[in-house]
Amino acid sequence: MPLRDEIKKRRTFAIISHPDAGKTTLTEKLLLYGKAITMAGSVKAKRSKKFATSDWMELEKQRGISVTSSVMKFPYRGHEINLIDTPGHQDFSEDTYRTVSAVDSVLMLIDAANGVEEQTKKLFDVCRLRNTPIMAFINKMDRPGRPPLELLAEIEQVLGIATYPLTWPIGQGDLFRGVYHRATKEMLIYQQNAERSQIVPMATHTSFGDEVEAETAEEVAGELELLEGAGEAFAPERYMRGELAPVLFGSALNNFGVEILLDYLISLAPPPQPRPASERWVAPTDPAFSGFIFKIQANMDAAHRDRVAFMRICSGQFVRGMKAFHVRHKRLMRLGRPTQFMAQDRSLVDEAYAGDIVGIHDPGVFKIGDSLSEGESLHFADIPVFAPEHFVKVQLAEPLKSKQLSKGLDQLSEEGAVQVFRSLTNSNEQILGVVGVLQIDVVQFRLQAEYGVKVAMHPIPYSAARWISATNQAALDKFTSEQGQHLCRDIHGNITLLLDHSWRLKYHQERHPDLTFKATSDAVLAE
Ligand code: G4P
Repeated sequence: MPLRDEIKKRRTFAIISHPDAGKTTLTEKLLLYGKAITMAGSVKAKRSKKFATSDWMELEKQRGISVTSSVMKFPYRGHEINLIDTPGHQDFSEDTYRTVSAVDSVLMLIDAANGVEEQTKKLFDVCRLRNTPIMAFINKMDRPGRPPLELLAEIEQVLGIATYPLTWPIGQGDLFRGVYHRATKEMLIYQQNAERSQIVPMATHTSFGDEVEAETAEEVAGELELLEGAGEAFAPERYMRGELAPVLFGSALNNFGVEILLDYLISLAPPPQPRPASERWVAPTDPAFSGFIFKIQANMDAAHRDRVAFMRICSGQFVRGMKAFHVRHKRLMRLGRPTQFMAQDRSLVDEAYAGDIVGIHDPGVFKIGDSLSEGESLHFADIPVFAPEHFVKVQLAEPLKSKQLSKGLDQLSEEGAVQVFRSLTNSNEQILGVVGVLQIDVVQFRLQAEYGVKVAMHPIPYSAARWISATNQAALDKFTSEQGQHLCRDIHGNITLLLDHSWRLKYHQERHPDLTFKATSDAVLAE
């Protein structure tokens, strides 16, 4: 099949949501439609089996959260879907941020009872950085929840994105009877766990059948009157620019609304898009292969102590056994054991195309943000580093292990698990920064389990950091001499200010208009 057709078939997306909105449940139903699994419950069952294979993951199991973001590929109606599962727990949001950089669109999952929650908002802001197209699925309609119009208003107000309901719910909770599909003027009848929804054409958008209670019918007719009366047509180009979110309603647990969601994902969501490299825009249909590493996961299988680097292919075709040019190392290398994942099963990949996500064996040569090509110097430089929010000083329990500590911290920071800083006033002092507080425990645990280094972590009372830059060197020098004890350097040597209160940032910004305080570092991880 020509390259162009292979690429047109692909959809690569991630689901963003607040914990408990139903992401695991929805993922499982999507995989069922893709025939990637045959039994409901497999995702969770396999996940817990997997946990048992790794001590590190054992830690997360004890904490009752999932930190592995898996990459899943499945076919659906002639399309190839790559779904990147993101850990929803707030403690692992940085990993999730990077995931979002590897997709072409995002599905935002919202719990109908809770509306827009904190973690969704945070992740949405990240999507905004790249204007990623966002589709929304309002879940748990089978349970009592907030009125749909109110939910849309909240999305618009809190997230600042326009909405366009593609379907409209008919009732809610015990009175939930289905959805009205606006484009086809049909009603999809709610039935628990049916593979296909029964579809009934409607003469007008108020002519519900007898199964809808009179009160619900009246209410929904009023809402639809309002929507249809506005006369606004769906504007796909606004969705593509990240300005308008198409919205669907359903119940993942009951498998309702999932098929129409998948149908819209293949018809509306963008195929692999051109990607900006520092040198030029790279079109997915460029025949030469290119890609970048957006995630590194160590010890996915404790028995093999392996490290897998996840690569998003940006252009061309990848073939097993091919040599690729590692841009940062300036050398050709064979990409070992290319793997694709289906639920938690792995299989070797013979070929893959732009849009696909491939895991490759990493003997320790990759960093997040690394670019690969067929020889061209390309830098897909768009994975920002986010300012940490929790900080600790590291104290080595056994002084003779400082070499192992450096090695461990180097590797863990390459993986993106932690950011390492050195105090400006005392360069022997290592400060670790993380976005989510639980990462500190994970780093401590992994230093001991994987590098044999026992450390104590002493919290220090900072809650934010900003990277400082100035066009005027004198202004920067003055600030450095005044604020020295709160300043450190990151691994790239960039000056970073640690802050204990958010008001202090405002104070510094007002007093030092010549300085820029950035919440994301421009330094790409792999420079
Ligand atoms: P997460 O990955 O986003 O954290 O959420 P998950 O799928 O684990 O779902 C969280 C809870 O919400 C689960 O219940 C799940 O069954 C429930 N849920 C998901 N979708 C729906 C839905 O459409 N309707 C209803 N009523 N519930 C839904 P749990 O009791 O916490 O877990 P479990 O014992 O069912 O596994």
